[in-house]
Amino acid sequence: MMRKPTILVTGGAGYIGSHTCKALSESGFYPVSYDNLSRGNEQACKWGPLEIGSLDDGPRLAQVINQYKPVAVIHFAAYAYVGESVLRPDLYYNNNVVGTLSLLEAMKEADINKIVFSSTCATYGIPAASPIPETCDQKPINPYGRSKLTIEQILSDYEHALGLKPTCLRYFNAAGADPDLEIGETHDPEPHVIPRLLLTAAGQQSVFKIFGDDYLTPDGTCIRDYVHVCDIADVHVIALKRLLDGENPVTLNVGTGHGISVNELIENARRISDRSINIQYAPRRDGDPAILIADTSLIRETFDWSPRCSDLDTIISTAWKWQQKT
Ligand SMILES: NC(=O)c1ccc[n+]([C@@H]2O[C@H](COP(=O)([O-])OP(=O)(O)OC[C@H]3O[C@@H](n4cnc5c(N)ncnc54)[C@H](O)[C@@H]3O)[C@@H](O)[C@H]2O)c1
Repeated sequence: MMRKPTILVTGGAGYIGSHTCKALSESGFYPVSYDNLSRGNEQACKWGPLEIGSLDDGPRLAQVINQYKPVAVIHFAAYAYVGESVLRPDLYYNNNVVGTLSLLEAMKEADINKIVFSSTCATYGIPAASPIPETCDQKPINPYGRSKLTIEQILSDYEHALGLKPTCLRYFNAAGADPDLEIGETHDPEPHVIPRLLLTAAGQQSVFKIFGDDYLTPDGTCIRDYVHVCDIADVHVIALKRLLDGENPVTLNVGTGHGISVNELIENARRISDRSINIQYAPRRDGDPAILIADTSLIRETFDWSPRCSDLDTIISTAWKWQQKT
């Protein structure tokens, strides 16, 4: 029997990483998660082994790579909270940037040159265009976004000088949960808007704060592009297959091209959960752009992909069911 190609998934115990491991396994790959569990969950690794280790631990990385002989790497492992990055830039540059350099060194030693990297719309900062095309200037406004942009630039330099094949995926807002409810989003504390909203619906949080209702948007609240985590997972499988087929690396937005306001989220969450949700208006947070929507023409054309479960009802209902289950 032919062996399934092994993929090293850094951050495989995290939210997007675990959903991607499921999609990889369903597509005939063998995902090996490499995660230090600083923000992830051991129970989320159901589709392949979990090897506990940190990005900055070169010998451990080398040992895992030597044991499993992956043909490519999908690199999710990072710290990803904007507010925390403003207070602790040291953590972000060390973990995200220095950690990635360590990973690249281990890949170079092992002759692995294919990597799919988790970038973010936070690299655009306050964008000059809406929807945002990949060619938009990247001027991040916080250390998290700057750490991710720095990694994109490092990957590009390694591509030109050292033959690395990096595909960078700039996700917008990941949301929702596995429809089979085998995994979902579990962070503690929970930084993302939809799980926070649903925690309030479930009565585990007394009030949901809306940060700013005076933006220049139709209802005054911020607009974001929410993309279902399973759609993001599918994009990784496509990106990986293309790299393995020898296609050129690409940098693409991953979103839906549609914006949803915070008020629309609340309305939908109330309807789907059939619960009341207490809201409270709070001042705007520093550095929150009014609108972030992806221009998705490039990914739709290049990957022949379109989201299959990113409609708001599916996002909220899968997240709600996961919330109820946990
Ligand atoms: N969630 C989003 O909406 C979103 C949007 C854009 C980009 N991203 C990016 O996608 C990636 C995954 O995001 P997520 O929401 O799944 O985050 P997550 O925190 O759930 O997952 C990250 C995982 O990486 C692990 N990790 C962190 N530092 C590590 C290290 N030094 N060594 C080993 N493991 C380490 C954590 O334990 C965790 O399991 C991140 O790189 C994030 O920046 C996420």
